Amino acid sequence: MARPLRAKLDLDALRHNYRLACECAPESRALAVLKANAYGHGALACARALEPLAPAFAVACIEEALELREGGIDKPIVLLEGFFEESELEIIAREGFWTTLHSDWQIEAVERSRLPGPINAWLKFDSGMHRLGFGTEDFVRHWRRLALSPKVCGVHLVTHFATADGVDMAYANHQLAEIEALRYRLEAEGYEVPCCLANSPATLALARARGQWHRPGLMLYGADPLERANPFSARLRPVMTLESEVIAVRSVEPGEPVGYGGRFIASRQTRIGVVACGYGDGYDRHAVDGTPVLVDGRRTAIAGKVSMDMLTVDLTDLPTADIGAKVTLWGRAEDGSQLSVDEVARHCDTISYTLLTGILPRVPRIVSVG
Ligand SMILES: Cc1ncc(COP(=O)(O)O)c(C=O)c1O
Repeated sequence: MARPLRAKLDLDALRHNYRLACECAPESRALAVLKANAYGHGALACARALEPLAPAFAVACIEEALELREGGIDKPIVLLEGFFEESELEIIAREGFWTTLHSDWQIEAVERSRLPGPINAWLKFDSGMHRLGFGTEDFVRHWRRLALSPKVCGVHLVTHFATADGVDMAYANHQLAEIEALRYRLEAEGYEVPCCLANSPATLALARARGQWHRPGLMLYGADPLERANPFSARLRPVMTLESEVIAVRSVEPGEPVGYGGRFIASRQTRIGVVACGYGDGYDRHAVDGTPVLVDGRRTAIAGKVSMDMLTVDLTDLPTADIGAKVTLWGRAEDGSQLSVDEVARHCDTISYTLLTGILPRVPRIVSVG
């Protein structure tokens, strides 16, 4: 492997973060969310690492669930978007997948299905996200139907928070009130109502959002979804280290531009290091001048627009850094210094979810040991 760019994966950190998610909500069981190729980390490698700990997994769709089954993962797998075509129901029943039901047509399909056995249904409540799911009256009507249906062997209430990552918790508390009212109403009719409520932000910071299950995604990978400080977030460990090397060094005079569009203009005699990593690898082209990187563990910054296969960094204050110097785009450098993907994301006017899921197949994933 000659090109030095790689995404190193620390699966011990993944297990540590999973245990932390369990510690945040000890009375609840944690579904490990592995959708979008485990947020870019490799779904099968992550599932195998978590299988001894996690009672179940969650993915977006049946293709992602089948990849895990074919890789030998035999734990229950929740389909967070449910099925897209009625024909998937047979596979869902055969493979023991648990499916979200968010629309009338899906419930009708379950009711008219002829399956070898009943399926586990996760009925989606729209508590305020207004994306997928049923409002209160439709939810109650469907719940009663499914509870009686021989096609179903268990019904869960599943919902999603829109703003649990923010500073103002008023809307998350409003969603919680909607959930509690619905639950109270169903329990008053004699139903048991197992719930799955919390994503990572709610797992970390919304203690009242703990149902029988919670669904951490991003935090498993060591990124912090919260806009505010939180003692649990401070204990997250990065799973992915995006690492490359300086492949060329040049000196530019004051006033000279660097890279496409000449965005960076040297204000002094400047040593520019060229790094093998670009937007063709998934590194965000919106990274501004000043976006942090570590070179041999020491902080410096991007200078010039990100190109397809390369980016340029300012090495002026790192005179010993030369061709072959290790560059950490995010994650943990060999000397233990760290650069959080959340900090890089802020310089790209985005969130760490997009940076992690955006790393392209071109970048080899290497499981790091120790
Ligand atoms: C329905 C659902 N549940 C859980 C998650 C996991 O969220 P997070 O990565 O914030 O933990 C997501 C993520 O997009 C989701 O869409």
